[in-house]
Amino acid sequence: MEKHYIILILCSILVFANGNGVAQGPKAVRKWFKKHSNAKEKLTEFHFYLHDIVSGRNPTNIPVAMANATTQSPTYFGLIAAMDDLLTEGPEPDSKVVGRASGLFGSSSLQELGLHMTFNIVFTEGKYNGSMLAVSGYNQFNNRYRELPIVGGSGVFRLARGVATLENVWYNNTSGDALVEYHVVVLHY
Ligand SMILES: *[C@@H]1O[C@H](CO)[C@@H](O)[C@H](O)[C@H]1NC(C)=O
Ligand SMILES: *[C@@H]1O[C@H](CO)[C@@H](O)[C@H](O)[C@H]1NC(C)=O
Ligand SMILES: *[C@@H]1O[C@H](CO)[C@@H](O)[C@H](O)[C@H]1NC(C)=O
Ligand SMILES: *[C@@H]1O[C@H](CO)[C@@H](O)[C@H](O)[C@H]1NC(C)=O
Repeated sequence: MEKHYIILILCSILVFANGNGVAQGPKAVRKWFKKHSNAKEKLTEFHFYLHDIVSGRNPTNIPVAMANATTQSPTYFGLIAAMDDLLTEGPEPDSKVVGRASGLFGSSSLQELGLHMTFNIVFTEGKYNGSMLAVSGYNQFNNRYRELPIVGGSGVFRLARGVATLENVWYNNTSGDALVEYHVVVLHY
């Protein structure tokens, strides 16, 4: 009996050290829901920087498709792109990695540079390693601040909800590259 407890504790420590994010099977998910059905949510905040690289040999944001009319549109209406942008703790590109912002967006406005975005913040470090936050919203790129809804998550962020506030640190209108500061507030169990 005691031996089992020790093994259990050791396993928990190992799971914690590797992050709780790696997707588990349906049994574990159902158990988690039962355990958390009356639990109180906690609030977690993140601060990091997104490196959006469009130019050069190793872009992390690439156009995938567009309509004929997109080339005539001042707002790139109809352009669809894929991104897998690096997220770091500080503004420098060689700062400690937090994870990646991985997903798709499309230019969905005729009037302004407005992007419908759907992507995941995929954490790759520490206790959040493997866990994700699902972001879905409308990014008015020329506004100083943009609010993108966090609509869910996986791993330690199951049933998460929150808001990511975006602000450009800089945007190079020649290369298209940008550095974007993210403040994320999220409620989760
Ligand atoms: C798009 O442009 C190409 C090349 O000019 C043309 O062949 C094609 O018919 C156009 N497609 C539409 C849907 O207008
Ligand atoms: C994050 O998790 C992956 C997959 O389990 C693992 O390969 C990787 O080494 C982990 N990274 C860190 C920094 O713990
Ligand atoms: C590009 O940025 C420069 C420097 O910030 C600015 O002077 C210029 O007006 C911008 N060009 C366009 C087309 O927005
Ligand atoms: C903006 O991008 C252009 C083209 O890559 C580059 O020549 C220029 O130095 C960049 N400007 C800044 C301020 O980094």
